[in-house]
Amino acid sequence: MTSPFRDNLLDGKVAFIAGGTSGINLGIAKRMAELGAKVAVVGRNPEKAANAAAEIGHDAIGISADVRDFGLIRGALEQTRNQFGPLNIVVSGAAGNFLAPVLGMSANAFKTVVDIDLLGTFNVFRACHDLLNVPGASLIAITAGQAVNPMQLQAHACAAKAGINQLVRVLALEWGGDVRVNGISPGPIEGTEGMARLAPDPATKAMHFERIAMKRWGFIDEIAEGAVFLCSDAAKYITGTILDIDGGSQLGDATQRKVERGLA
Ligand code: HXC
Ligand code: NAP
Repeated sequence: MTSPFRDNLLDGKVAFIAGGTSGINLGIAKRMAELGAKVAVVGRNPEKAANAAAEIGHDAIGISADVRDFGLIRGALEQTRNQFGPLNIVVSGAAGNFLAPVLGMSANAFKTVVDIDLLGTFNVFRACHDLLNVPGASLIAITAGQAVNPMQLQAHACAAKAGINQLVRVLALEWGGDVRVNGISPGPIEGTEGMARLAPDPATKAMHFERIAMKRWGFIDEIAEGAVFLCSDAAKYITGTILDIDGGSQLGDATQRKVERGLA
């Protein structure tokens, strides 16, 4: 992919990426490191975190911590600040997901996803504030279309991601001029754990595909470029927004639109 960003765009910046040890968030971490940022990635599995850091290169560090534990996340953030300096970019992207109807979900199953996604994002953002390089720091939460469009078998993720969208907006108001707070809502991204879990069979895959106006799956590097944009000076007047990078997946029912245009 040809990128519009110059190679040294993030020179001297420090980026902390919660959930950055695989998939979309690892792609964001790699891109930020390529553009010059010092990067820390965080996940629960220490071996996965170490492997991710090695894959990223550019002196990246991998830290094992659970976003549900405020103290552990605070420790990971302090370690990053001590090693690299005050943080310019914080991405909260850790998530858990599985398909289950509400009646097949225990209270703990619902709580588990809400705790990883929503409480985890609160913890990461709450714990980082006094370690940020201000003014000019940029926070990005990774949300999903389920925040807006209800989806069966996804009550936990729908509720959690909707909460993340509102948390983004409230923090943008509260942290005003010093810290910009935005979200990215990816569409279905090829080759990811999320896709494997949410579209485990051809029929479900076809259902997701039908919703995409652009009629192709997204790529990890398309989300990474959006994250770079949001933390760059090109976005310096943007806060409290959720950037859909989803090929038009949130625009409504694609079949219905075709019918309306006489194209079905
Ligand atoms: C019903 C389930 C379940 C299932 C787990 N549980 N899987 N209930 N159906 N398929 C229940 C368990 O029985 C338990 O409840 C509770 O959830 C917690 O389970 P644990 O295994 O103890 O939790 P934990 O070890 O913390 O693991 C969290 C996890 C796991 C979410 C369950 O899958 C995980 O670690 N996921 C991380 C990776 C991931 O999900 N990546 C995809 C993110 S993508 P009880 O009552 O028995 O105690 C994403 C997609 C976006 O968000 C949208 C794409 C279009
Ligand atoms: P993924 O590969 O499963 O990545 C999840 C990351 O979060 C891993 O690094 C994982 O590492 C970490 N993590 C999970 N639970 C954690 C916890 N409790 N504490 C700390 N880290 C934790 O997922 P993905 O599919 O790339 O999705 C990434 C993000 O994009 C998520 O926020 C997801 O909701 C969003 N999204 C994805 C899609 C898609 O198509 N995939 C679409 C829309 C939105 P450990 O397991 O080692 O902890």
